[in-house]
Amino acid sequence: MTIQKYSGNIPFRVGMVGAGFMAKLHSLSMRNIAGLMDDPSARFELVRIVDLNAQYAQKEAERWGWQESGTDWRMITGDETIDIVDVATPNDSHCEICLDAFAHGKHVICEKPLSTDSETAARMARAAIASGKVHRVNFTYRAWPAIVQAKQLIESGVLGEIRHFEGHFLQDHNNDATIPLHWRFKEQPAGAGALGDVGAHVIDLARFLTGEFESVSATMQRFITERPLPEDRSRKGNVEVDDLTVALVKFTNGATGTIKAGWALPGYKNDVFFTVIGEKGAVRFSWQRSNELHYFDSADPVALSGYRTIFTGRAHPGAELFWFPDLGGDLGVGVTGQGIGYGEAFTLSFRNFVNSLKNEVSPEPNFVDGLRCCEIIDAIKLSAKEGCWKEVKHTNVA
Ligand SMILES: NC(=O)c1ccc[n+]([C@@H]2O[C@H](COP(=O)([O-])OP(=O)(O)OC[C@H]3O[C@@H](n4cnc5c(N)ncnc54)[C@H](O)[C@@H]3O)[C@@H](O)[C@H]2O)c1
Repeated sequence: MTIQKYSGNIPFRVGMVGAGFMAKLHSLSMRNIAGLMDDPSARFELVRIVDLNAQYAQKEAERWGWQESGTDWRMITGDETIDIVDVATPNDSHCEICLDAFAHGKHVICEKPLSTDSETAARMARAAIASGKVHRVNFTYRAWPAIVQAKQLIESGVLGEIRHFEGHFLQDHNNDATIPLHWRFKEQPAGAGALGDVGAHVIDLARFLTGEFESVSATMQRFITERPLPEDRSRKGNVEVDDLTVALVKFTNGATGTIKAGWALPGYKNDVFFTVIGEKGAVRFSWQRSNELHYFDSADPVALSGYRTIFTGRAHPGAELFWFPDLGGDLGVGVTGQGIGYGEAFTLSFRNFVNSLKNEVSPEPNFVDGLRCCEIIDAIKLSAKEGCWKEVKHTNVA
C-alpha cells in the first residue's frame, strides 16, 4: 500500500471580509476549484474570515474550513501573509476595505454593486488600476455558460446589428412585510434597493451583451414602506429604497433597451432574464430555466420559425467543468449536461478569478465595470427623482 501526501502547493492565500450569505457561496466556490480544476497552481487557501459579528465569522470558519476567524477587517488587509482580499459586506463598506487592501498590495475580489455611488466607485477603480493588482467585481452571471454562449453568438454577428435589449431581475421574497428592516432597505448602506441589489446584475448584463449606456429614463416604486426593526420587532422603521425600478435605456451604439429590477413581485422567484434582439435574430435567457438558451434565427423557413431551445452542456463555455463521468475516452461535445445551478455560477466566477490571478491581469468584470454600473444606477436614481431623461456619465479613470 502506498500513501502519498498532498504536495501542499496552495498559491493564493485568501482573507474574507463578511460572513453572511455570500460567505457560503464564496467559500464553496474556492473549495470547489481545487476539486474541479486539474491545475495545482489554481488553489485558494482559506486563511481567515472576519465579520463584525464574531459568532457569524466563527460559524462560517468551522463550516468551510477557514483557518481562523476574527472581527476586524484590518486583520486581513494589513496581514502580509495574505495575497487576496475577498469583500462581501454591505455596499457602503466596500470602498474603505478595498482602498486599504490595494494600499497593502493585495489582489481584490469585491461583491457588487462596487459601491453605493459613482464617486466612491471611481476612487476604487482608480486605486485598483494604480495598484497593478488583480481586481474583480463579482458579477456572477457573466460567467454563466448560457450567457457566455449568448455573448459569443452576438459577437459572431449571427444576430446582425443589435436593436434592442430587454432585461429584468425580478424576485418575490421581499413581498413578505415581516422581513425586518435590514441594511438592504436603507439608503446609506445599500445605495439603492432592488435596483442596486438585483438590478446591478441586469445592468451589467446589458453592458456585457449590448454595450455602453448613453442615457436613461426611469421610475421607481416602494410597495412596503415600513418594516419591523431588527432589534425590536414590535416597532417599525421606514424603508428608504425602491422595491421596483423600471428604466428605458438608450445605448451609445443606437440600440434601445428596458431594464426592470424588483424584489417584491409575486410570480417571480429569482428571474434574471434578457432578450437581445438583432436585425437577423435574437437570443433569450431566463434564470428560471438557467440551463437553457433560446435562439431565434430569422433565416429559418417560415413554417419552422420560432425559438430553438439549446440545453447547455459540455459544448458550452464554462460548463466543461461540471459533472461528466470520466469514461476514459474523448467524450467530445456530444455528452450533454446534468444541469448546473447557483453554486456552480459562483464557482465559475471564481474559476475566472483564479485564472486572472495566475496571469496577473484584470479582465472584465473588473473595478471599471463596477464603476460603470454605479454610474448607471446613479443616473437611473436621478432620472426617477427628476422625472426626465438623464445622461450616464463615463468617468475617466485610466
Ligand atoms: N454576486 C451576487 O450574486 C450577490 C448575491 C448576494 C449578495 N451580493 C453582495 O454581497 C454583499 C454582501 O451581501 P450578503 O447577502 O452576504 O449580506 P449579509 O447581510 O448576509 O452579510 C453581510 C455580513 O457583513 C458583515 N459586516 C457588515 N459590515 C462589516 C464590516 N465593516 N466588517 C466586517 N463585517 C461586516 C455583517 O455582519 C454580515 O454578517 C453585498 O454587497 C451584496 O450586494 C452579491
